[in-house]
Amino acid sequence: MQDIRRTLVAKLFSDPQDFIGKEVDVKGWVRSRRGNKYVQFVALNDGSTIKSLQIVFDLNKFSEEDLKAVTTGSSIHVQGILVESMGKGQSIEIQANELQVYGSADPETYPLQKKGHSLEFLREKAHLRPRTNFFSSVLRIRHALAFAVHKFFNDKGFYYFHTPLITASDCEGAGAQFQVTTLPLNELPLDKEGKIDYSKDFFGKMASLTVSGQLEGELGATALGCIYTFGPTFRAENSNTPRHLSEFWMIEPEMAFYEIEDNMDLAEEFIKYCINYALEHCKDDIEFLAEHFDKELPERLKFVVENDFVRLPYTEGIRILEESGKKFEFPVYWGVDLASEHERYLVEEHFKKPVILTDYPKEIKAFYMKLNEDGKTVRAMDVLFPKIGEIIGGSQREEDFDKLNGRIQEMGLEGMDWYLDTRRFGSVPHSGFGLGFERLVLFVTGMQNIRDVIPFPRYPKNCEY
Ligand code: 4AD
Ligand code: MG
Repeated sequence: MQDIRRTLVAKLFSDPQDFIGKEVDVKGWVRSRRGNKYVQFVALNDGSTIKSLQIVFDLNKFSEEDLKAVTTGSSIHVQGILVESMGKGQSIEIQANELQVYGSADPETYPLQKKGHSLEFLREKAHLRPRTNFFSSVLRIRHALAFAVHKFFNDKGFYYFHTPLITASDCEGAGAQFQVTTLPLNELPLDKEGKIDYSKDFFGKMASLTVSGQLEGELGATALGCIYTFGPTFRAENSNTPRHLSEFWMIEPEMAFYEIEDNMDLAEEFIKYCINYALEHCKDDIEFLAEHFDKELPERLKFVVENDFVRLPYTEGIRILEESGKKFEFPVYWGVDLASEHERYLVEEHFKKPVILTDYPKEIKAFYMKLNEDGKTVRAMDVLFPKIGEIIGGSQREEDFDKLNGRIQEMGLEGMDWYLDTRRFGSVPHSGFGLGFERLVLFVTGMQNIRDVIPFPRYPKNCEY
C-alpha cells in the first residue's frame, strides 16, 4: 500500500509504530470539523479505509482565516507529526504543521453534511455517494470481491476469456435485450415486405447488448478447457425490484469435461472463497456496515462459509413448498418458475441454509441445458441464498448435436450455426454457471437494495450520469 504523493491513512492505522513521531503527508476530504478557540479537530478521510484520521490544528499556529475553507467536503493536504492520541475515539492523530486547501466546499450547497442521510437520498446523489462512509465501504468490498474472483480462477488455471458486449445472438431467450442500432429511428429503412431493413444498419444485421457471455464462453471452454468471463451484461426486463438491474456484472465460468456435480462443487467452493476473502480483507468495512445496517451480517457470512449447501431436486423443492401449509402470493405447482418468496422459504425457513436446486422442468429453463433421462427435466442448478434468492444460475450443457439442434428448432432460434459447431466438432460434456456480481456484493455487504452496491445503477426509467 504505497502512494508517492501521500501516506495512506490505512497505512497509518495498520502500522502506526512506523510513523509515530515522524512527519507525514496526508491528503483527502474533510468529513467534519469541530473544536474551540484554542484547537480545531478535523476528521480527514482519504478513501483508503473507513477510518477517518483526526487532524489537530493548534490555533496558535493557524488562524481562523487559515482554516476558513476547511469545511465538510473540502479537500486538503496536511503535513504534520503523527502522535498517539490522548482523546477518546481514536488511537492516533496528526498535529498539523502545514495546511494546503485544494478545493473548498460551500457548506450552504454541499449536499453531504455530517448528519446521516437516508440511502434513498444518497441514491439521488449517486455521483457524490462514494464520499460517504457507507458507500465507500461497499465500494472497497466490491473491489475486494472482484479481485477474489480473478484470484480464485487464476489459481485454478482458468483463463479469463473476453466475450463480446455487442452480439447478434440471444443466450437466455425471452427477448429482454437492448437493441444496438445507428438507424435513424424516425425514418427507418424498410425492405420490400415493409419490415425494417437491417442490412442498412451499422453491423448489417440486428444487434443487441449481450444478456450473457455463455454461448461464446462455451467456445472458449471447448478449446482452452476452463475459462471464465467477468463483464457487464444488460437486460431490458421491466423489473423494478431490489434484486434487479438493467446493467449488471456477471461472472461465467465454463468448464470442459465437468458434469453437473462438478459444477455444483465448483460453484459452492467459489462463492465460499469470495465471501472468505472479504471476511479476511475487509474486516473494518464489514464491521462498519454491520454496526450501522445489519447486526447479523458477520454471523451470516461465517455461517454460509462454514456449512455445506443443501442439494435438492426441483421436484422435492415443490413438494416441500406444497406441504409447508404456507400461503404464498404466487401458487406452487410442478412446472412453475419459482418466485423469490418460494426460494426464500426453502432457504430461510425450511433448510436455514443455502440451497442448490437442480433438475428443473425443461420448459422453464434455457434451450442449451442437458436433458435428463426422464425427458422432462434438465440438468440445471440454481444456487439460492438467504436474503437474496437466486445468486447463481447454471447447468450442464446439452452436448448431443441432435438433441440441441432439436431444441433450437423447436424454439425457432436463428443464427446458431456457429454455436452448434461446438457439438459438431469434438463435442464434450461441459458445464458452467453465472454468478450475478451485484447479488454477491449485496449479500456480503448486507445491503437491502441492489442499487446501493453499484456506483451508477441502471434500472427502468433511470439512466443518470
Ligand atoms: O440465471 P441467469 O439468467 O443465467 C445466465 O445468464 C446463464 N447464461 C449463466 C450461465 O450458465 N453461464 O443469470 C445468472 C445470474 C443470476 O443467478 C443472478 O444472480 C444474476 O445473474 N442476474 C441478475 N443480477 C442483477 N440484475 C438482473 N436483472 C439479473 N438477472 C440475472
Ligand atoms: Mg436464472
